Amino acid sequence: MQVSELKQKFFEFFGEGEVSVYFAPGRVNLIGEHTDYNAGFVFPCALSFGIYCLVRKTDLKVFRFRDIKVPNAFDIALEDLSKPVGKEWVNYPIGVIAQFIKNGMPPKSGLDVMFAGFVPMGAGLSSSAAVEVVTGTAFSDIFGYEVSKKDIALYGQRAEHEYAGVKCGIMDQFISAHGAKDHATFLNCDTLEYELVPVKLDGAKIVISNTNSPHKLESSAYNERVAQCNAAVEAIKPYKNINKLGEISWEEFLKVEDKIADPIARKRARHVVSEIKRTTDAVAALKAGDIAKFGLLMNGSHDSLRDDYDVTGLELDTMVNEGRKIEGVIGTRMTGGGFGGCTVSIVKDEAVDTFIAQVGANYEKVTGLKPLFYVAEIGDGGHKVE
Ligand code: GLA
Repeated sequence: MQVSELKQKFFEFFGEGEVSVYFAPGRVNLIGEHTDYNAGFVFPCALSFGIYCLVRKTDLKVFRFRDIKVPNAFDIALEDLSKPVGKEWVNYPIGVIAQFIKNGMPPKSGLDVMFAGFVPMGAGLSSSAAVEVVTGTAFSDIFGYEVSKKDIALYGQRAEHEYAGVKCGIMDQFISAHGAKDHATFLNCDTLEYELVPVKLDGAKIVISNTNSPHKLESSAYNERVAQCNAAVEAIKPYKNINKLGEISWEEFLKVEDKIADPIARKRARHVVSEIKRTTDAVAALKAGDIAKFGLLMNGSHDSLRDDYDVTGLELDTMVNEGRKIEGVIGTRMTGGGFGGCTVSIVKDEAVDTFIAQVGANYEKVTGLKPLFYVAEIGDGGHKVE
């Protein structure tokens, strides 16, 4: 949909006049999964598709929230802007606005707000982070508050913790705010220092395969993983004083691994610490132009998420297994939180059509679900469009 069409929709909701348009992208993580809340590294990129937010100041004492696809509309009085509203989508923007209010930046007037989302929901491409970041970007700009991209990302993460009940890390909101066209972001989730690395794949493309199996049970299983990682830290502490799994190297981990008595916590920690190493190795490989090595590390990441972290499942494993049968697939893995959602694959240009046709057909045969494929374009982080 063109921006002009989005504006037309806005006028249908709220009448003609001035309107500002903002955008924040979804993301695909190339490698570094379930490492962010462990103070590890991640390597995501922003997608060219995302969520638009159109806004206009009004004289009313209310924020009127609309979405072009979801029928539920909400008119929320200024004094109620921090109060969660049941299990509704509007909690994502409200959760972000609440952080502005907490930090001494209240709304200065009423606002008409319309969202238009082009990230498939529940697909593990961070549609909720995009809503949070576009809200923060729009709110700060329209009311003239100077807030860094980093703080916008942190407000989004807090919204997720406090209003959606998911104890997520910072990756999704950070990349949605900081992404840069044709680059992946190598982020240290402990210090939030980051480096933009050009994604030069020399004759290959990033293909996202949507299992069309929305991530089920994600928040409870996700929070359970967070707790298991913390349990592993406690078990390691008497032998090496760490606060997060990201503080121990793979070599040191091997020496203390057997001190983690609980076999589940041990496996979870093994994934996290090995994944952090794979991520730094993968970034080095990409910088050196060694795409084959990058692909092998992606494969290793998936296997570890399947065997040690237990967040894959039939759909994601089938998509990956079918992908690995195709000549020209350099690497393939699940991306995002897991339990459904998408895989990400690096596929040679000449193999992309075969990949989509064969993986699509075989995946459907095994699961009965029709998948979707997107050849990813890497876009910019949250910004004002006009
Ligand atoms: C979800 C979370 C992120 C991250 C990934 C797994 O997308 O929102 O913070 O933990 O899962 O890497």
